[in-house]
Amino acid sequence: MTEQQAPDVSARAISTWSGSAREQAVQRMFTAIAGVYDLNNTLLSFGLHSHWKTITASYIPAVEQGTALDVGAGTADLALLLEPRMGVRGRVIASDLNHAMLVQGLKKVDGKGLTGKITCLQANAEHLGFDDDSFDAVTTGFCMRNVGNLARAVGEIRRVIKPGGTFACLEFSRPVFGWLRAVYDWYSFKLLPWVGTKVARDTTGVYEYLPASIRTFPDQERLCQVLREAGFREVFYKNLSGGIVAIHVARK
Ligand SMILES: C[S@@+](CC[C@H](N)C(=O)[O-])C[C@H]1O[C@@H](n2cnc3c(N)ncnc32)[C@H](O)[C@@H]1O
Repeated sequence: MTEQQAPDVSARAISTWSGSAREQAVQRMFTAIAGVYDLNNTLLSFGLHSHWKTITASYIPAVEQGTALDVGAGTADLALLLEPRMGVRGRVIASDLNHAMLVQGLKKVDGKGLTGKITCLQANAEHLGFDDDSFDAVTTGFCMRNVGNLARAVGEIRRVIKPGGTFACLEFSRPVFGWLRAVYDWYSFKLLPWVGTKVARDTTGVYEYLPASIRTFPDQERLCQVLREAGFREVFYKNLSGGIVAIHVARK
């Protein structure tokens, strides 16, 4: 009988897993940090995440009576930015696999009196459960890096977009300057895990998982290829903050 090896459950290993084991590990992390997600996001990105999200939403054409979906919506920031672009009678769905994150999102939606226009819904990016050609636009912010099967999630997103509709994907990417990559590596592999543990008192490993998952996610050009392979056209990207993040925009 051969001795079975214990699975490597480090944050770095999780970022390279695929399938449901990864999904469960990632979801445990988001459940644990949901209550402090917004604060940590603001602190750790030096407030930049709001700016990145505002620019992402600006790539979505304004329509009257539009319908938009934000996948992996978390605490609903992008859904709130999409809402005015869908017109006074428009609808936005903020979907996420994680209930705890959506609870935080719903509080913000409710606080702005927008529960009639923004619906928070639990759904897996890989099996969205909407009809084909349902949405004028789909956005996603910092979610694609976490899904078990990226090609499946992208294919599913394309399926639910109406022909001619727009997909905008905000995600961490590859800094374009060597010096920025060095600073960023130090920040993400050294400082970020330290701050996560000491300041945010995180015990889930999410702040180690974060840089590890960024490293294994496709860079700008490769993500363009993934989108084209899924059938999207007019694919382009815009680097923000020197390529620390990139917005990929594509049309169905
Ligand atoms: C880093 S948070 C981003 C939240 C929000 N979009 C933002 O930009 O602040 C990633 C979100 O993706 C969600 N997520 C991860 N895997 C998912 C999946 N397979 N389907 C749907 N949501 C998923 C997580 O639950 C989490 O809320």
